[in-house]
Amino acid sequence: MQEKQPNPLGEDARNARTADPCLLVIFGATGDLTSRKLTPALYNLGKEGLLPSHFALVGFARRDKSHQEFRDELKQDVNTFSRTKPIDEPFWGNFQERIFYHRSEFDDDAGYQALAHFLQTLDARYGTKGNRVFYLSVQPKFFPLIIEKLRKFNLVYDAHKDSDPWSRVIIEKPFGHDLASATALQLDISHHLDESQIYRIDHYLGKETVQNLLVFRFANSIFESLWNYKHIDHVQITVAEDIGIGTRGHFFEEEGLLRDIVQNHMMQLLSLVAMEPPVSLNAGAIRDEKVKVLQSVRPFSPLDFEHNAVRGQYGSGSIDGSPTCAYRQEKDVSPTSNMETYVALQLHIDNWRWAGVPFYLRGGKRLPKRTTEIAIIFKNAPGVLFQQQGKQTEQNVLAIRIQPNEGISMKINCKVPGPQNPIQPVKMDFHYGSYFGGPPPDAYERLIWDCIVGDSTLFARSDEVAQSWEIFTPLLDYWALHPVNSFPNYASGTWGPKEADAMIAKEGRAWRVL
Ligand code: BG6
Repeated sequence: MQEKQPNPLGEDARNARTADPCLLVIFGATGDLTSRKLTPALYNLGKEGLLPSHFALVGFARRDKSHQEFRDELKQDVNTFSRTKPIDEPFWGNFQERIFYHRSEFDDDAGYQALAHFLQTLDARYGTKGNRVFYLSVQPKFFPLIIEKLRKFNLVYDAHKDSDPWSRVIIEKPFGHDLASATALQLDISHHLDESQIYRIDHYLGKETVQNLLVFRFANSIFESLWNYKHIDHVQITVAEDIGIGTRGHFFEEEGLLRDIVQNHMMQLLSLVAMEPPVSLNAGAIRDEKVKVLQSVRPFSPLDFEHNAVRGQYGSGSIDGSPTCAYRQEKDVSPTSNMETYVALQLHIDNWRWAGVPFYLRGGKRLPKRTTEIAIIFKNAPGVLFQQQGKQTEQNVLAIRIQPNEGISMKINCKVPGPQNPIQPVKMDFHYGSYFGGPPPDAYERLIWDCIVGDSTLFARSDEVAQSWEIFTPLLDYWALHPVNSFPNYASGTWGPKEADAMIAKEGRAWRVL
């Protein structure tokens, strides 16, 4: 049994930074994200002593309820969704006294006026010094309106570096629907907020395994010299989910999988895998390098639209032996919907490091299992010594398992013991769970905490978001003009449409079996 080691990206490092006193206001406090992610994250941060001692939480939403009703609902959410259970009753008893509810419509001036007054009262009571985090967990159409009102009622302040008090706004994804809308949204909010106050969340960046990509690449000397077109044959990035769209029919009919997963989460993974070493670990330096990767992604050509971009939609099928319905039968989905629930792409990064190395991306709902992985597939060894029955030995594969079963494995060829010389691929495997002990903290814990301490490294910058939309908007436009008539084209519980297999097979490669 390996000894449990301190996690360099975990609590120890986090404790080294201090969290200022502050109030956190969640807009959309009765929504799904608050229940499933934000409340458990705040509870666990509090329990680990990472929230400032001068802190209070205010839920802002449109439904009528008392402070106590709101607290009871949040307690239920912790009981259901927290990574640590059972709930710590004495801790909750204290914590809930700092939780409040504020009812208002998002467009109601009186509601914001009352909020401003209420927050001042809380400042006086809890010593939160006027510092504010506003978390916008609402439909994107409300982002500009809420930010305008926050400014109008002086709930957000001018940003001066190291100013006191400070105000920050966390904006949930999606940030825009395409390049034009993202640019318009950015312009709109930039009238009221400085870039340093805007925290665009992409929760993938809060995952421990995603943060470890930088450490893995730049704190180990052995990989960097191999990390280029000379040694790497291709890269595969998979974000597979077995769940369908659940109760999010309205959302998904608007967004589809490319906007929901590929444009943000998958492109973040791609940027971190492909970027050059940053000049330092500060937010600007890291984000500069990520943007350069996006700028180097080769634009889709008309041929790519047809041959290097595949969309799919799930039909009925079964997952783990239980029957599941087709996307078109889901609640709030049109029975003739043409929205994609699966995407496979081939991208190229036209820079020196990655010349000629394809990046294959696939993501989808209702695939056989939940797994997110980045696989680096190395070039074959020269086939002069160890060919078996005329076949080359297998390629080395470095597989970075983002979730679940977080870890990293390396496939290498090995001689099978015995007098003959057969060769067999074997795996060297590292598991976070067994090495560091216990499940990693949830991504939202890290991100909320980073915002409170004013570290925007793990949030998307405006040029990053715009650059990613620039890549995908032409494809989205093409898809909108050319609806498919073959949907549904994969059964739930299978690995996507056969066109995705054909896309990668035409180059003599295959998707990894996961
Ligand atoms: C969200 C998407 O951003 O990420 C969801 O909107 C998706 O559709 C989810 O299910 C996946 O997150 P995770 O952390 O479970 O991989």
